[in-house]
Amino acid sequence: MNSTEHYLEFAINLAKQCGQIILDASNARYSTNSKIHSKYGNQSDLVTETDQLVEELIKSKVKESFPEHRFIGEETMAAGYKHEFTDDPTWIVDPIDGTTNFIHGFPFVAVSIGLTINKEPVVGVVFNPFLNELYTARKGHGAFLNHTTRLPLSYPNPPLQLPSSLAKCLVITEFGSDRSDITLSKKVNSVHNLLRKPGAVSWSSKKAGLARGVRSIGSAALNICSIAMGRADIFYEFGCWEWDVTAALVILNEAGGIMVSAQGYDEGPVDIFGRKYLAIRAGSPCDGDKDSKQSQLRLVREIW
Ligand code: IPD
Repeated sequence: MNSTEHYLEFAINLAKQCGQIILDASNARYSTNSKIHSKYGNQSDLVTETDQLVEELIKSKVKESFPEHRFIGEETMAAGYKHEFTDDPTWIVDPIDGTTNFIHGFPFVAVSIGLTINKEPVVGVVFNPFLNELYTARKGHGAFLNHTTRLPLSYPNPPLQLPSSLAKCLVITEFGSDRSDITLSKKVNSVHNLLRKPGAVSWSSKKAGLARGVRSIGSAALNICSIAMGRADIFYEFGCWEWDVTAALVILNEAGGIMVSAQGYDEGPVDIFGRKYLAIRAGSPCDGDKDSKQSQLRLVREIW
């Protein structure tokens, strides 16, 4: 077995184990009166004992199995640890992506386990235990739902009906936990711009700010997997973190989608630490065509 296959198998087993812990904790959350804390004094940025427990489990399993590997995890960072991102194999983990959903029992919650080697994301596992949806990928070997269903779901056979304009796109975004006036009004305005005009407008026309619909489900990793599946066309978020996106980025790439950061398509691969992400599904109007990619990026910049 070559090493990325081994790493993928390791991550899948771990994600399933964590998924069971998350489900059990969710089922028991009223009877056990489990504690919810806020991070950085922000009442919109929450952490539970289950986030911490699951992250500790993943961290200890990584240490046990691959002592020379590095680890970056949401709750470890929140506890004040600094990390150095190197060429060494590095596990980038969100134990519960969608913590607010988890607290409420809103079933869009995932454990997200990504691995980078030479700073490149090469293995990704995102598991939603509530819906029993396991998304997996390793570089160069495709992306799958529940092991056997290749992503994207209906592409290329039969071909997806490609939207010819943003007016035919389903867009996903999130409001995140930064509720400062300036950030929130930018995010709300971007949604307003996406929704404000009726009728079809071409990708390249200025301020073609209208999408068919805008969704927000509360987990960046699952949002990106939705784009990888082809359930929606575009996801953008400004303010989420490397642990929210690394695993899902491998799945998106392997499903033929692309992710760019705010800098643009010619700036090389997306910076996973950049905290500005825009994902586009395979077969979308900008896929493979540099001019339309550029015009879409321009458009999203205008929306933002
Ligand atoms: C959050 C979720 C949410 C996104 C935030 C993330 P968490 O992750 O992905 O959808 O809007 O930016 O931080 O805190 O639930 O792990």
